[in-house]
Amino acid sequence: MKSLSQEHRKFHPQSEFVANAKIQGMEAYKEEYEKSIEDPQAYWETVADELHWFSKWDQVLDSSKAPYYNWFVNGKTNISYNCLDRNVNAGKGDKVAFHWEGEPGDSKSLTYSELLESVCLFANVLKSFGVQKGDRIALYLPMIPELVVAVLACARIGAVHTVIFAGFSSDSIQDRIIDSKARMVITADGGYRRGKILELKKIVDEGIENCPTISEVLVVKRGGDTSIDCPMQSDRDFWYEERAESCDADCPAVPLDSEDLLFLLYTSGTTGKPKGIMHSTGGYQVFSYATSKYVFDLNDNDMYWCTADVGWITGHTYIIYGILQNGASQLIYEGAPNFPDPGRFWNLIEQYKVSIFYTAPTAIRAFMKWGDNWLEGKDLSSLRLLGSVGEPINPEAWMWYHEKVGSEKCPIVDTWWQTETGGHLLTPLPGAIPTKPGSATVPFFGIEPLILTEEGAETDVGILAIKNPWPGMLRGIYGDPELYEATYWSKWGGRYYFPGDGARIDEDGYYWILGRVDDVVNVSGHRIGTAELESIFVEHSSIAEAAVIGIKHEIKGQGLLAFITAIEGKKVDEALKVELVQLVDKKIGKFARPERIVFASDLPKTRSGKIMRRLLRSIAEGQELGNITTLSDPSIVDEIQNQFKNI
Ligand code: WTA
Repeated sequence: MKSLSQEHRKFHPQSEFVANAKIQGMEAYKEEYEKSIEDPQAYWETVADELHWFSKWDQVLDSSKAPYYNWFVNGKTNISYNCLDRNVNAGKGDKVAFHWEGEPGDSKSLTYSELLESVCLFANVLKSFGVQKGDRIALYLPMIPELVVAVLACARIGAVHTVIFAGFSSDSIQDRIIDSKARMVITADGGYRRGKILELKKIVDEGIENCPTISEVLVVKRGGDTSIDCPMQSDRDFWYEERAESCDADCPAVPLDSEDLLFLLYTSGTTGKPKGIMHSTGGYQVFSYATSKYVFDLNDNDMYWCTADVGWITGHTYIIYGILQNGASQLIYEGAPNFPDPGRFWNLIEQYKVSIFYTAPTAIRAFMKWGDNWLEGKDLSSLRLLGSVGEPINPEAWMWYHEKVGSEKCPIVDTWWQTETGGHLLTPLPGAIPTKPGSATVPFFGIEPLILTEEGAETDVGILAIKNPWPGMLRGIYGDPELYEATYWSKWGGRYYFPGDGARIDEDGYYWILGRVDDVVNVSGHRIGTAELESIFVEHSSIAEAAVIGIKHEIKGQGLLAFITAIEGKKVDEALKVELVQLVDKKIGKFARPERIVFASDLPKTRSGKIMRRLLRSIAEGQELGNITTLSDPSIVDEIQNQFKNI
């Protein structure tokens, strides 16, 4: 594993920031952290007490069936209640829950009372179809207010939402619906992306052709736009707006068991198929609330903005559940960062006086490339805190973010976590932890990380492990307990959680994430399993074998490179490349396209037939290859190297 260059710059939070922060200074953090580790159950109980429970738990944590942990055992609660009713009851009814801006420039604002009303109405529409607790509902929506509303409506009545990012193809919709056995899809006629309309309903129609579990498709009109062609099938498809006319907006939140399933979110792994990560109600509620509160240091007058899509875990936890539970105001934006021009984000920050801005390194690097002139003259003085998520941030991007966006005054919280962890595990607390460019710094309260060797010995550079359970952790992989145990708990004999990342710890006890140690590639913060792509390529009738690797990419962090062997006698040409790219578009979506496809007469393999991906990576990055005599056919290396020179 390659270590990052040593980075010694350190940035301390400014005294005005510290003075108003929830956790003030390193000593305060350490004291609270130690308390949380000495008695994690007492710590989490105190946090849970800040939220509403219809009835309290009898036990904070039940580890007796590890790795199936239960949190807040027998507690009854509802996360939509904690996001909405609890805040309205506390007098925040007239506070803005979110300002929403569509890509074309249309906008809308909802207060907490209005959001509660919209969620209740939506929940009643779901009930009018007979949707019940435990039913799985697939959501395929653009970033419009109804996406937030629909998620909370499911949670309100105990239906399990599975949000599918609107960049996924119809085949991906099908896979997720078949696996989750969803009974309904909620979609929209369309959504805007870079000035174009994405016709989502049509993609859904294709996706559910072979999905017998789906009985209804509920369609939201995106901003009442009538220019979108949206065929409706009379016995199956319903316009949300029409259905809502006969429903009322009174829908009390259903008391749910703490361990009732809240949502499924599919993510790529080392196996060919995406896995449905399961999150349950009570623990996720407490963890998303606590991390949002302390990591974003949310205050009553903040205007928070997270640029992620609700289709990913970041949007679930840090647009919807964590932020709304804290009663904060936020901005939600539908579209691309560079539409109509690369000044859009900065205009939005200026216009809505955004104070907390949470985005991804890939976006930061794109802005660096588009040029500083897009920031010139923009008033970003409302910003007080910046955040980064999804992939390692390189120190150059960190420094640009710090200087150009944060005017050297805003702390940057580089938050390390995963779909599976539900919320932040490693992160600075902005008023307490001095930051270093590229480090996710220290563990959140209650989290005990370790760096281990393959064998489980502690080391300075190795594999990240998490020692104790935490409330926001996944509860399993839907329908596949064996895969859950094998993926996350088998590496060190069930003793620690294995996230799949390499890490290093420095002399200050700061953690530096070094990227994935498994066959998962992080492209622009999106996890793509190389096995998933490989199995797509070999489905093509001309293809015999495929090996996909991740390589460094200036903007995306990592890009994908595919090495492909055709079946003997099949024509290998540009047209075949185009077909393979189209296959990726169809099976996953455009965002999973490889940067390059390289054809070879064979792939480098060991004598036992294992493809040497590490060698392919070295060839691609132009590194020394070392000893290749163990290959079954060393001449193949020359062929591939020559191919590379010719591209
Ligand atoms: C990577 C996204 C370095 C990591 C929230 C992890 C990061 C995977 C960071 C999870 C970070 C996420 N620094 N790497 N701050 N945040 N990662 O499930 O490899 O989409 O395992 O969750 O992204 O991706 P996921």
